[in-house]
Amino acid sequence: MSAADSPASQGSKLPSNVRIAGTGSYLPEKILTNAELEILVETSDDWITSRTGIKERRIAAEGELTSHLAAKAAEKALEQAGIEAADVELIIVATITPDTLTPATACYVQQHLGALKSVAFDVSAACSGFLYALELARHSVGAGAFKNAVIIGAEKLSAFVNWKDRNTCVLFGDGAGAAVLVPSENGDGRILSSHLGTDGAQAELLNIPGGGAACPITIENADQNLAVLSMQGREVFKHAVNAMRRASEQAIESAGLTAADISLVIPHQANIRIIDAVVERIDIDPKDVFINVDKYGNTSAAAVAIALDEANRQGRINSGDKILLVAFGAGLTWASAVIEW
Ligand code: COA
Repeated sequence: MSAADSPASQGSKLPSNVRIAGTGSYLPEKILTNAELEILVETSDDWITSRTGIKERRIAAEGELTSHLAAKAAEKALEQAGIEAADVELIIVATITPDTLTPATACYVQQHLGALKSVAFDVSAACSGFLYALELARHSVGAGAFKNAVIIGAEKLSAFVNWKDRNTCVLFGDGAGAAVLVPSENGDGRILSSHLGTDGAQAELLNIPGGGAACPITIENADQNLAVLSMQGREVFKHAVNAMRRASEQAIESAGLTAADISLVIPHQANIRIIDAVVERIDIDPKDVFINVDKYGNTSAAAVAIALDEANRQGRINSGDKILLVAFGAGLTWASAVIEW
């Protein structure tokens, strides 16, 4: 049984009268190349490129936090949507690298933006987080509870990576992406379907074991570097391909479409080999798949959001296009959505 067959998998077939009115993204200035990683750990550009497709990633400056990256991405999305921060009603930040355990990073983002009348909270669903936020926000806006919503995927993973562990440190990067949701009128764009899933039985495959109540960082364990990403890469790889394939098929089918109707796939950017394997299995032409993992590595909850913004600003999405978004991450979690632009 693949993860996406598990009972903890929920689809939403009803189209939402909600559209994406603006997108934005922000990447920190500092670029860390594979060549620079060769100095930090025993690795090579050739190994990283051939196993992952990653050539470089961005690293936030000291003092530049997840909330700062998130706010910069949100500002661009709001500008494109033509909505003032003061008029924002809902902010959802998807992140696994919050500024603080509490309050939510979304609260800091509300302050940075000056979106003072908004309700703001975080979701934690790892690399699927932006699509979990999309699902929550589209129902909230679609039901009329909020007039608009800013959803943001943002991560400062560099703060939670063991820079001595070559198995993980070559994979991750920092960044943020955002989208603004508003009610749609006269059929000007809709969210056609979505599919979310969770398999908590596999939680140990990819986690940050220390720093929570289960394993607080103390003087006794401080030298064990426990508040960093830990991963069983091969197992995660297999689950990722299966879950993203099933989630993609379910969202396309729920939208009443076939793979041939999809103009562009925007997958989670973890590893080019995972993306290639999923795309081959769902029978999509590789030229219709948006890729930027080479530039940014895996930015977890930010990855789909950044890719959506880049695709949008590069003119790869036109009115009426049907777009498939699909992600997979720690939890395990997976998520997909089909959007009519
Ligand atoms: N540079 C050089 N060698 C490395 C390395 C690195 N950065 N990282 C691992 N290796 C070594 C391993 O130590 C191992 O050596 P050994 O055979 O002597 O023990 C060898 O390369 C093979 O390791 P393995 O883990 O089997 O490689 P792989 O082909 O599975 O690729 C990943 C490793 C992590 C790239 C791959 O498993 C993967 O992408 N998994 C999914 C990760 C992911 O996307 N996670 C996030 C999901 S949201």
